[in-house]
Amino acid sequence: MTTGTARTIEFDHPGGPAVLQWRTRPLTDPGAGEVLIEQDAIGVNFIDIQHRSGRYPLAAYPSSLGIEASGHVLAIGEGVQDFSVGDRVAYIHLPIGAYTTHRVLPAGRVVPVPKGIPLDWAGVTLNRALTAQYLVNDSFPVSAQHVVLVHAAAGGVGQILAQWASHKGARVIGTVGSADKRELALAAGCHEVLINTSADWVSSCRELTGGAGVHAVYDGIGGAMFEQSLLALRPNGVLASYGTPAGPIPPFDIFRLNQLGSLHVTSPSIFTFNKTTAALRERSADVFAQALADVLRTDAPRLYAFDQAREAHSDLAARRTTGSIGLSAR
Ligand SMILES: NC(=O)c1ccc[n+]([C@@H]2O[C@H](COP(=O)([O-])OP(=O)(O)OC[C@H]3O[C@@H](n4cnc5c(N)ncnc54)[C@H](OP(=O)(O)O)[C@@H]3O)[C@@H](O)[C@H]2O)c1
Repeated sequence: MTTGTARTIEFDHPGGPAVLQWRTRPLTDPGAGEVLIEQDAIGVNFIDIQHRSGRYPLAAYPSSLGIEASGHVLAIGEGVQDFSVGDRVAYIHLPIGAYTTHRVLPAGRVVPVPKGIPLDWAGVTLNRALTAQYLVNDSFPVSAQHVVLVHAAAGGVGQILAQWASHKGARVIGTVGSADKRELALAAGCHEVLINTSADWVSSCRELTGGAGVHAVYDGIGGAMFEQSLLALRPNGVLASYGTPAGPIPPFDIFRLNQLGSLHVTSPSIFTFNKTTAALRERSADVFAQALADVLRTDAPRLYAFDQAREAHSDLAARRTTGSIGLSAR
């Protein structure tokens, strides 16, 4: 029987970072088919802010937060054959609840972290890397024939997207919100970097492509950036609108896609592509293989102390972070 307590971050109602509260809960044993994980690193993702703020309403409160983490298996439930106590693991999972020191999860939602992959990196990057993976392989399969545009190219998903798309041979144009992020975007594999805080970036992008526009835009910003991104595409181009920190996409007439050159728009979710255990395991193994092959960099991520979750949320919302960020659960 497992004894002891877990420290958990919860909130009782939607609101700003100050609603986050630290609580202690008794540890529970894993049931049949479950594993208990002692967590090391917890990803802080933009979706956590959207859950906390009420932009994505939750069914019940108090609620925990967070969709991904890494750690070691502390105990296994009856019938679990894939994992043993002590294994290094990571997960992405809904319903939310990753902001905790210990977590019980179905074994089928957990993936092994291979030797050579830092646990901290896996814990705060798996969600973002699995996102970049479906974006470059499924939403718009990138190849050396393509010019693609990556918004927020110094951010968490953005840096991985730039690394992966440039490895596939594409010419990658990045955008960033301020000049101090330019070097990071270039280091991540962007061939050119534009500042996106005024709509001028669209004409600069067209100039860089000889007037043609890009084959695909990966837009994790949303809001007014959606319309600007459509204008940067060439005929038959693809806009993958995968995130909206700048606000919801304004209503638009689908006939605009016809007028702008038979464009395609997709609004994809990581959970569609990783629904089954087999898909999650296969896709995670590919992410880790790309990291071991140095296609994806495994730089130590910025980890805030567990007690600094409010600061982490404030920094991510205010565009003060670069790369992937998370909390240390140790
Ligand atoms: N659909 C999916 O399956 C899926 C899965 C994972 C993540 N996502 C999405 O991927 C995106 C990136 O996530 P992340 O956690 O790695 O975040 P991030 O890219 O590290 O941070 C967000 C970045 O967006 C840019 N931004 C532009 N306008 C903003 C605004 N009004 N408020 C805040 N940021 C703004 C900022 O970069 P600049 O200053 O350079 O503009 C900021 O650094 C998010 O939209 C997230 O929801 C989607």
